[in-house]
Parts: sequence; structure tokens; C-alpha cells
Amino acid sequence: MIMTSRIIILGSNGQLGTELSSLMPNASAFGHSGPGKKINVENTDELNMIFKSIHPDVVINSAAFTDVDACETDRSRAYAINAESVRNIVSICRKYKSKLYQISTDYVFDGKSGDYKESATLNPINYYGFSKSIGDAFALSYENSLIIRTSGIYGHSRNFPMFAYESLRANKQVNVIRGFYSPIHARSLASAIVDLIKQYEDLTGIINIAGEKISRLQFARKIAEKFSLSTDLIREVESLSGFKAARPFDSSLDISYAKSILKTDFYSMEHNLEFLEETLIEEKK
Ligand SMILES: NC(=O)c1ccc[n+]([C@@H]2O[C@H](COP(=O)([O-])OP(=O)(O)OC[C@H]3O[C@@H](n4cnc5c(N)ncnc54)[C@H](OP(=O)(O)O)[C@@H]3O)[C@@H](O)[C@H]2O)c1
Repeated sequence: MIMTSRIIILGSNGQLGTELSSLMPNASAFGHSGPGKKINVENTDELNMIFKSIHPDVVINSAAFTDVDACETDRSRAYAINAESVRNIVSICRKYKSKLYQISTDYVFDGKSGDYKESATLNPINYYGFSKSIGDAFALSYENSLIIRTSGIYGHSRNFPMFAYESLRANKQVNVIRGFYSPIHARSLASAIVDLIKQYEDLTGIINIAGEKISRLQFARKIAEKFSLSTDLIREVESLSGFKAARPFDSSLDISYAKSILKTDFYSMEHNLEFLEETLIEEKK
């Protein structure tokens, strides 16, 4: 199916979008401020134009305003990108009968219980999570959409594992905030999305695709062990200075449904850390 489909990737210069684009070189990939073809998802005319020329069977929306603290202060931008643009994408997908894959976040939850299933009730505690939850609602209003909910993506960017690795290598202290989540390398997530498109084209609703639940402290220690670095400089802290937005304490996702239908390992820490190593080599760190 994927070989013959017309596929649009939005947000193609982001962590996930980069990996999706490299796994699907025939897709029409649109970034925002980086190199290559560009689109501003806030601009409905631009969206209409690319749909008109491509007539996509599949649209993967990985474009988002993902800076959690910036979303707290620039709420109108967060709402415009994470919520309103999804409404516009949905309405154009309806017109062209395109299947929409909308990427969602563990930050739509309050983090009080963790192990959130697909059916769990949303209760965001920061504006990023709120704006994404409205985007999810717009996506769910379209019967031909699949929300892929994930957690702690790391790929080619500034992200927690990269920061931890670089700091430990430079013998700098790494402060990690207390709490749990389900981090996944962008390459594992992209590969699972490709499998879903190929094998489950009729699947709609919500699916959690993320890594195994882990505390940030344990994650930092795993990174240290993987790269033979000392764990002595890793400290667990209650909060980090500079945070403007609240963080859910345990935003881990229950991935049992995805594990039951996808036959590949997208979730194990070992597998994801292999990809982290590849990413570091690619960036010649
Ligand atoms: N990162 C995480 O830990 C995480 C966790 C859970 C869920 N998610 C979700 O997963 C998805 C992908 O995340 P990611 O980590 O790949 O994010 P990312 O690296 O920040 O990529 C998002 C991309 O969206 C683009 N973008 C921003 N505003 C845009 C606009 N107005 N028009 C078009 N493109 C725009 C950005 O381009 P510019 O930078 O050029 O503006 C960026 O390349 C997002 O939906 C995010 O909410 C992320």
C-alpha cells in the first residue's frame, strides 16, 4: 500500500518528521523553517494548495509547537499551531478523503496515575498539553483519522538523552526531574508508524506508540551505562529552574495494544538506545 500511496508529511524537519521522511523517500515532505519544501500549517491557503496538487491518500501531521515552556507564555501561537491548524487539516482531509495520522502527546494527561491507556481521560496541566488535547479532539471528530500518542521523542535535536550524554561526557552534573514517562527514539516511532500505514490502513481512533516506562533517573543511568560513562554525576531533583510550565509526574503510556498488533520491537530501551548510538555517530559526536 505504502509504495503506491500519495503521502504528505507535515513537520518534516522535526525529530519525527526527519525519520519519517527518510523511511518514506517518495512521500511529499514539508518542513517549516528548515531546508526543503516548506509549509506553514497555520496558513489554510498553503494547505489547500498542496492538497490540491498532491491529492494525498495519507497525511501524517508531525508539525507542532513543541516547546512546552514557550507554549505556556505564547498561548495564542500554541493554540494556532497545535489546535486550530489540526481543525483545518481535518477539514481538508475530509474534502480529499485523506487518512490523517495525528501525533499526540503524553502531556494531555495530568500524570497522577501513569500507564495511560488509549481510553484514559485527558486532563492536561499545562498549555502545551491543553492545546494538543484540542488538536486531538479535532482529529477524533474525523472518522478517517488515527491519533498516535507518544512520549519523550528523541532523535536529531536537543533532547534529554542527548543533553545527558553530552553533559556526562564533559564531566558535568546532570539534574533529572523526578518522574516517569515512556521515551522512544524518533526512528522507532517512525518505523512503527510506517508499519501501521502498511498493515493497518483501516485502523482509526487512538493508539499509544511509545517506549517502556522508565524514570528519568533510570533513563539517565541507562544512557551512562550504554556509553560507559560514570553515573556519579546524575542527580534526581524535584524541579528544574527555568520551567514555566508544570510537568506531569508520571505520563507513562500503556503500550500493550500496539505491542499486540505490531510485531517489531519499537519499545525496548535496548533497541531505542541502539538508535541513539546511531544518531550520535551520524552527528559525529
Ligand atoms: N518531542 C517530544 O518529546 C514529544 C513527546 C510526545 C509527543 N510529541 C509530539 O510528536 C510530534 C513530533 O514531535 P517532534 O519531537 O518531532 O517535534 P519537533 O522536533 O519540535 O518538530 C516539530 C516540527 O513542527 C514544525 N512546525 C512548527 N510550527 C509549524 C508551522 N506553523 N507550520 C509548519 N510546521 C511547523 C517545526 O518546524 P520549525 O522548527 O522549523 O518551526 C518542527 O520541525 C508533535 O506533534 C509533538 O507534539 C513530541
